[in-house]
Amino acid sequence: MPRLDEFVFAPDQEAECVYLLGLGLPGVPNAKLEEEMSELGELAETAGAEVVGADIQHLDKPNPLTCFGKGKVEELKSLKGDLGFTSVISNEDLAPRQQRNLEDALDMKVLDRSEVILDIFARHARSHEGRLQVESAQLRHLLPRLAGGRNLSRLGGGIGTRGPGEQKLEVDRRRIRNRMTDLGQQIVKLQNSRRLHRNTRRRNQVPVAAVVGYTNAGKSTLLNALTGAGVLEADQVFATLDPTTRAVHLPDGRKILLTDTVGFIQKLPTDLVAAFRGTLEEVTEANILIHVLDATHPAMRAHFDATNEELERLEAINKPMVLALNKVDALDPGTVAMIQRRGTWAPYDEVVPISAKTGEGLPRLLETLARLSEAGLVRLDLMVPYSEAGVEAEVLRRGRVLKRDYLADGMRLVAEVLSSDAGRFEDYVVAEPAEKVTPVVGRRVAGKRVASPRARAG
Ligand code: GTP
Repeated sequence: MPRLDEFVFAPDQEAECVYLLGLGLPGVPNAKLEEEMSELGELAETAGAEVVGADIQHLDKPNPLTCFGKGKVEELKSLKGDLGFTSVISNEDLAPRQQRNLEDALDMKVLDRSEVILDIFARHARSHEGRLQVESAQLRHLLPRLAGGRNLSRLGGGIGTRGPGEQKLEVDRRRIRNRMTDLGQQIVKLQNSRRLHRNTRRRNQVPVAAVVGYTNAGKSTLLNALTGAGVLEADQVFATLDPTTRAVHLPDGRKILLTDTVGFIQKLPTDLVAAFRGTLEEVTEANILIHVLDATHPAMRAHFDATNEELERLEAINKPMVLALNKVDALDPGTVAMIQRRGTWAPYDEVVPISAKTGEGLPRLLETLARLSEAGLVRLDLMVPYSEAGVEAEVLRRGRVLKRDYLADGMRLVAEVLSSDAGRFEDYVVAEPAEKVTPVVGRRVAGKRVASPRARAG
């Protein structure tokens, strides 16, 4: 595990020099805190800063006025001259009042983890929708801070002040509110048009696999290796913020759509998760999940757990899933075998070691996808009384809803679930028997692939 002092470097004239500060509260294991702090160091560097110092303060509870203790604030004041930092980044999220008080006391910019993440998001969002979402999340974050009297002249430029692209953040409250309304309307329009695209995919019955995983695990590299999609890959956290969907041919000639998603991270602020619902919708709506895990990372297990927690939050954990242990080119075969054997990788259906970089293991990954995408999806036509609203949530947890009609005596749902789950919904089935879905454009007949009418037409 990287240690705090690995992120402490000599000051660099060009970069913004920052000091990292963490809060150790009772019950939080030190190792977890150290891991979060080293991740904060990576985030700060990705945002273009130079980390010149870091520390963790242990307190029984956060100070309501400054989050950290008075003594620590005094200590930072005397350190700033020696170390030459011009900003402090807190691992703990700061209330507007705490942030303002800290800035006043230290006479410098103080940012929290969310603001650094927002700043990185601002520089990486590429699609029109991604940029609008980031700007909206930034303004939502900024508004209560402006109302709380934060002195923006102290911010200067740099981290925490950048909008998507090169534009600078608006600081006038009335104009911010107008802009937020405008952004909200534009986002809804774009989301509706994306929904239309998804419906077209569904009508074409092409299965969709969403590539999920911790930030920097290699999701974009994998998508590029499999599809030549040209998605930006970079050794930086959060290089990907926009869903990118591409078609891949499976070994049996069928087609599957692969979609890249935003990387997960521990303590991802909930308003950011909300801002990126667009890419996360792709996860909820996918038929299969490919969880890419960086098998070389010392915190591999924590990344695995954090991603699974996010998937659980999205109620997507019950889909057919494959775990791709990535970057095995950088490990010796004995270590790969050990990781594969040792770990308990439940609830994953398959674990496949791969290298998105060299292509090792990708044929096996594609075979696994072919198997999972065939694994008996059934389409159900259900009538659910309004008094049993939980049924729809259960369908969503286990599969996806293709059509929803609100009728006089209940909700009519056309849904797709795994055949092994179909029994759960038999009390609500309208049309028997459940139709087997062939989620392909080309069909296999006696071992040969023939094009479906739709594929021939297209
Ligand atoms: P986010 O967009 O931040 O969520 O990252 P990501 O999961 O899309 O990761 P990305 O594909 O950008 O890769 C991150 C870094 O890991 C890059 O420097 C890649 O070159 C490197 N990488 C990806 N796959 C492999 C691999 O199989 N082997 C090795 N050695 N490096 C890899």
